[in-house]
Order: sequence, then C-alpha cells, then structure tokens
Amino acid sequence: PTIYRQDYAPYPYRLPQVRLEFDLAAESTRVRSELRFELAPGSAPGTPLVLQGEDLELVEVRLDGRPLDAGEYQLADDTLSLIPPGHGKPFTIGIVSLCRPAENTTLMGLYVSGDKLFTQCEAQGFRRITWFPDRPDVMARFEVLLRADPAAYPLLLSNGNLIEQAALPDGRHQALWRDPHPKPSYLFALVAGDFDCIERTETTRSGREVLLQVYSDKGYREQTRWALDCLARALHWDERRFGLELDLDRFMVVAARDFNMGAMENKGLNIFNAAYVLADPDTATDAAYRGIEAVIGHEYFHNWTGNRVTCRDWFQLSLKEGLTVFRDQEFSADMLAEGLPPAEAASARAVKRIDDVHTLRLAQFPEDAGPMAHPIRPDSYQEIGNFYTATIYEKGAEVIRMQHTLLGEAGFRAGMDEYFRRHDGQAVTCDAFVDAMESVYAQQNPGQDFSVFRRWYAQAGTPRVRVSSHYDPAARTCRITLQQQCAPAGLEVLRTPPVEKPPLHIPVAIGLIDADGQPMPIRQENGTRDTLILELRQASQTWTLTDIPRAPILSLLRGFSAPVILETDRTANDLALLARHDPDPFARWDAVQETAHRHLQDCMRAERDGAQPPALDTLLAIWRAALDDQALSPAYRTRLLALPAVREVIDRSEPMDPQAAVSAWTRTRQALGARLAQDWRAMYDSLVDEGGPYSPDPVSSGRRALRNLALDNLLAGKAPGAVDLALAQFRQALNMTESLGALTALLQHAPQDAAGPLADFHARWHDDPLVLDRWFGAQASAPGCTVAGVRALMALPDFSLRNPNRARAVVFRFCLDNPGNLHTPEGYDFWAEQVLALDALNPEIAARLSRAFDNWARHEPTARAGMQAALQRVLAAPSLSRNVREIVSKALG
Ligand code: ARG
Ligand code: ZN
Repeated sequence: PTIYRQDYAPYPYRLPQVRLEFDLAAESTRVRSELRFELAPGSAPGTPLVLQGEDLELVEVRLDGRPLDAGEYQLADDTLSLIPPGHGKPFTIGIVSLCRPAENTTLMGLYVSGDKLFTQCEAQGFRRITWFPDRPDVMARFEVLLRADPAAYPLLLSNGNLIEQAALPDGRHQALWRDPHPKPSYLFALVAGDFDCIERTETTRSGREVLLQVYSDKGYREQTRWALDCLARALHWDERRFGLELDLDRFMVVAARDFNMGAMENKGLNIFNAAYVLADPDTATDAAYRGIEAVIGHEYFHNWTGNRVTCRDWFQLSLKEGLTVFRDQEFSADMLAEGLPPAEAASARAVKRIDDVHTLRLAQFPEDAGPMAHPIRPDSYQEIGNFYTATIYEKGAEVIRMQHTLLGEAGFRAGMDEYFRRHDGQAVTCDAFVDAMESVYAQQNPGQDFSVFRRWYAQAGTPRVRVSSHYDPAARTCRITLQQQCAPAGLEVLRTPPVEKPPLHIPVAIGLIDADGQPMPIRQENGTRDTLILELRQASQTWTLTDIPRAPILSLLRGFSAPVILETDRTANDLALLARHDPDPFARWDAVQETAHRHLQDCMRAERDGAQPPALDTLLAIWRAALDDQALSPAYRTRLLALPAVREVIDRSEPMDPQAAVSAWTRTRQALGARLAQDWRAMYDSLVDEGGPYSPDPVSSGRRALRNLALDNLLAGKAPGAVDLALAQFRQALNMTESLGALTALLQHAPQDAAGPLADFHARWHDDPLVLDRWFGAQASAPGCTVAGVRALMALPDFSLRNPNRARAVVFRFCLDNPGNLHTPEGYDFWAEQVLALDALNPEIAARLSRAFDNWARHEPTARAGMQAALQRVLAAPSLSRNVREIVSKALG
C-alpha cells in the first residue's frame, strides 16, 4: 500500500495531555495510557477516533473511566478505532496493553539491549508501545510513570524533568517524569537499566544552569568524556551561531549497544548508538572522534530544528534532517577551523566540505540515479523507514546550503530567526522553511523570489550543468554559458507521459585563474572579487565578464556550491593547472579527483580494448607536487592524495563493471605507490608521532591520517621494508588510529603478514564490542576475504546478526566495500541469503542491505543477470517485510 503526500488530512482531534504508566519487564511490559482528547477546530463531534498499534496485546479500553466492551471499539490489524461521544467536549481514553521487549528484534518501539530497556520511536515505533495517534502533527504534553525492579533497572529515565522517585511496597521502585514541552510521539523515550554516568553543568547565554549527562554501560565511564565535551561545545555553538538556547534544565545522552541508526533526538533524552558516544585513544580512531562530534551535534541541534519546530507529516522529513545535517556540518567545520588564521581556517573547513561531498557522491548520486530516486520531499512511500536516505539527509543539507549561499551568512541567520518567529511550537511543511528564507531573499533582491528554487524540493535526479566559455582577447571579455538538464531519475523513465523537469535555481560559484596559475579577479559593479556566484535559473544562460586581460581557466563549482554534476570541456592540462593552483581548496581537490577519475576510466577502457594502459604521468606529477607542498595541512593533503573510492569508480563506468573497476583501481594504486615510494617513505618518516598525550585535534589527527596513507601506499607499491614498517607501527601503536591503520594496510596489501596482528588485536580487544567491530570490518572489507571468508567470520562465536553494529561490520562491509568478492555468483547468493536472514529479525536493517543492488540494471550483463536473479529470489520469499518488499520490488520495477 502506497501512501501519498497529497492525501494528508489533519488529525480530527487534539491531544493536549498524555499520561503513561509502565510496568517494565523484559518479557512483558504493561502500559497504561490516559489520553485526553479534544475535538480539533473544524471537525465534527463524533468523528471516529483512530489509534495505531502494532504487535500489542490489548487488555482494556476505557472511555472517561468506563470500561468498553468489545462491541464498542474496533480492533483491526494495526488500528484501534471507536466513536467518541457526540457532545463534542473533551474526553479521556484509557488503554491498558502489553508488549514484549525481549522478543522485539526490530529495535523499534520498546526493546532489550544487553540487560537494559530502550525505546526507538521515530518514525513509527511508538505504536509498538501502545495504541496512539502515532503521527508527528499530534503534539502532547507527556507525563510518564515508570515502575520496575530496582535490582534489574536501578535507573529509570524518560523525557523532561524528574518529578519524584519512590520505593514501592511490592519491592519495586518508580520514577515520575514530566516533559513541559508538547511533542509528537516519535520524540518519546524511556530507558531503564544500570548505567555509569558523567555529568557537568553549563551556563546558557541567558544565565541558566543546565545539567548535561552521558550514560553508558558500567565500566565505560571514561569513554564518555569526549561525548560530554562535544555536547557542551554544541550547546554553546548553537547559541553563538544561531542564537538558539537549550530550553531544558537537563539534557541526557544514553549509549545503546543495539541501535538501528546513529542516534535519536528524543526530547531531553537522546539515545545513541554506542559507536557515536564511546571513545578513548586506545579504542577509538580519530575519525570516530569526529564522528561522535558530528552526531552529538546533530542530535543536539534537532532540539530546535526538529523538536521545537517539527514535521507536519513524514514527507517533510528533510525539513528537520536536511537542515540539521547542514547545521552539524557547519558545527564540525567550525570546530576544525577554530583558532586558526583565516587562510588555514578556510583549508580546515574545506576538509570537512570535501568529506561531505565525497559522502554525497558515494551514496546520494547513485541513489538519485536508481530505482529509489526521490525528491528531498517525496510524493509517496510504502514504508517510511526506507526514506531515511542519503537524499533526505545529504541532498537535503545541500539544498539548505544553497539557500545559505544565496542569502549569505547574515541573511541565512535572519531567515532562521524568521522561521522560528513564525513556527516555534508547530508541526510544519518544508514550504514553511523556504517561505521564511524567501522573505529575506526578496528583501535582498527586489523583484526576485524562490519560485524556481522550490523545485529542488519536488524534483528527483542529479542535474547536469554544462559549462562552456569563450574568451575574446580583443574585447577582453569572457563569455560563460551554463546549461542545465536533468534526465528522468530511476523509475521515472518508465512514466508516460514523460516527467517534466523544469529548470532549477542553481548557484554556481566560479573563479578564474590564468595560465601561470595566478588568480584573476572578476570585476563587478561593486568592486572586484575572486569568486562569483552565477545564479542559473533557466535551461541556458550566458554571462559576460569584462576586463579580463588574458585567457582564463575556469574554476567551477567552488565549495561545491550546488549538488550537480558538471560537464565541461576542460582539458587534462586545465585540470592539472587547477589541481596545483586553484586557490579554492575544494575546487582544487575536485580537479585532482577528476584527473584520477579520468585516468581510472581510461585504464578500464584500455583493458577492455586490449590496449596499452594509459600513462600515469599527469596524475603522478600532481600527486608528487601535493606530497611536496609543505604549505598544505596534512589533513588537506590526505584528501588530495586519496584515490576515488572504488565504488565511485564502479559507478562512473558505463555499463558498470565492478571487476574491471576493481582491477583498474588496484593496479593504479599499486603503480602510484611504487612510483612514489621514496616520497611516501620520506613522508612517513617525517610524520612520526611527536610524543605527548593523545589529542584528536585536526593537526595531530591530520598527521596520523597522512602517515597511515603513506603506509598504505608503501604497502600497495610493495616498497622494500613496507611490511616491517606496518608490523612495527602495529606493535608500537600509541592509539587506535595507528594500530588500525597498520592492520588495515596489512589486510589490504599483505594479508599473509596480517595473521599475527589479527590474533593480537583479537586477544586484546575481544571484550570491547566496538573495537571488535573494527576487527571484523577490516577483514570483511579486505580483497582477500571471499564469500567463504566472510562466512567463516560469521561462524565465530563473537558474531551475531542481531546486533546491527556487528551485522554492519561484517555483512554490510562485505557487500558494500568488497566489490571484487561480492560480484561473484557466490557473492550474489550470499547477499540474498543475508537480506532474508536479517529480514526475519530486523526489517529496517534488512532493507538497508537490500539497497546494495539498487543499480543492478546499469551493470554489464554477467553482474546484471546475477544481481537480478538474487533480487528475484528475495522477492519470491514468503512473508517479506514491507520494508524489503518496497526496495526489491522497486529495484525490479
Ligand atoms: N532522527 C534520527 C536522526 O537523527 C534518525 C532516526 C531514524 N529512525 C529510524 N528508525 N530510521 O537522524
Ligand atoms: Zn537527524
């Protein structure tokens, strides 16, 4: 059954007040709810009241205190409905129901993780706790009473403020929580169990003292200090950058070992995947530290963008997710740049931008080209759990970022202020946000509006922007023409009449450099500038730049000013020049990437045609220059010197040819490593740890990243002594970044030498689940890990499919990061088998894995047939979840 955005109808009732009582136990939990309903303005008295419920056992229903008999309400598969009294006055529904947390392997609703109880309600998990109007536009004040055995569950947490705690005569204890802020059910949370906790107080900018707490498994207290520190920094950053203050006296973060996603922004009680909370130098990599900062920031920022202003319906998901991703990206960038002089700050911020764009191209561009392509505001879905996508999140953030680019920092801030002035406390649509931004844009640009820009919310697919330029030396002008076009995305190709794709409003940031690599300022009415934003709104537009003394080379899409694919006639020489001299650090990196991509595709073509492999010289020269450029930060150089991910290479090939891409990529890595071995060795030696305590700061972590990259290249190039270097680094590692860097490099390039380190690593860390995930992941993604190898990993006693982190470390890593072994007949069988095995436990996770074959139809015939058969096998399986069915049927669509 497909749900359509067009079909939205407001809920006929309002629900000002909710009281919930929980008798918590793992086997069976009893929930008593009291829901105080009022007729919504405009609805008729006696309109049927429909509540959602799933996997629940009903004990009783009361209306204004009177028990109803079975004839007075209707119980269907997933709903409970009744006709309220005709008097039209407020009434109270009381429901008692049971749910079974220990049997709940979906990790939605109330579930058991370890010996603790957690909830996950977004998007539609609350209905697995009790019958309720489980939709985001019904906002209620919650009062929650939790009762449990104090031996098993000494700590009882829910949203808001702790009102009272007491021992009960029957030996149990109870805690009463009241959340002063009305909220939709998806933001409800409870946690029960035994935890360690660290806390600190912070003073908000208005002078209030607030308590910040981080809860973790017993014995992991010391691993939560970084998360608490990030939380405090997020709090103050949101005050500084957006003027947004914490509206609670107490803000809690709790780490859960079993969690479907990264984390969840429940009001005042964020529940996190432990992977985004726990860190210390011995167990967490530098990247993990930054990941924690980003996710702590993300969930904290949701308190305003998501909780204070929430979504009217789930089609508006990007209203909160795109905006909050944009905010967490900015937070991370500001943290990297903090305290640096302007030029270095720009490069530090660019590192974050590069990583974000890399993610977008790796995950979102393929999505936008496949059967799951959807606008950032989808028009329909079958299962909302399938729409927590790279498009909603990452492309959504790009659409927010373009508004930031068009308005400027001050204008964007004014738009945000206006958004909150208009909508604080409401559940709204994406239009509400664009309207607020447009009000500022229209002031800045009289006569202009966002009517074309809005199409970004409605259109799927990655637009292509074709750039052509013409320099006229006599007139000293440069004419730049931009043309845009967006092909039908995914299943749109099947539609008749064809889907219309009107032009979008695309900010294209450009700059000019001359043949010596010198920047050429661009003259405008109000002075000259280095970067100009061209606002493309039509299918084709031309700009003429004046006073250009020499023929320029175009630096395009600086800072990745729009989520588009560029088509240019820039030559290899143009790119090489930009790769060395573009003052925009993003565009410079992109020029290197583009050069590498062209080389890799040339390799694949040569291999296919039995021709000589293309010369490596251009790329080699660029890399050598980057290796030698001491002015660049190590973190930035690490990005410049990274080959595109093999998945991007596969995605660019036409038809997609995983085996050919893997082989071209592997050979290129080897060749680059071998040819630059001396440079890499010098680099490796120069980056030796300078001693002192570990710090995840950008400079130290940048040095470690570049050193690990050097090691990887030395091993890839089979440089003499490289294996010994890796073994020594592993033995002497001062932190997880060094130790995992060595282990990974060995597994990738010298697996026969990895056995000892693998055994040592396991012996030391088998008790720490997150570190053990690393051990599994490094092996599952190694080119030497065949299907038999991954099956052997899954046969180990440490493996469990029920724990999403472990499933991701082994099954997902194999299916996503080991294309050479996945794209085999056994690999396709393995994928189908794992999708089905997971689906029986956790449909949401199974559906994510099922997405790995989205783009089967774009593959060369052998892979294509193998993937298609595997998809068909999954679709034919009995009792498929709605989640997997949607993905697989759309893929085969
Ligand atoms: N809102 C959460 C976030 O911060 C994600 C929750 C997704 N839940 C789910 N069951 N898919 O992004
Ligand atoms: Zn989010």
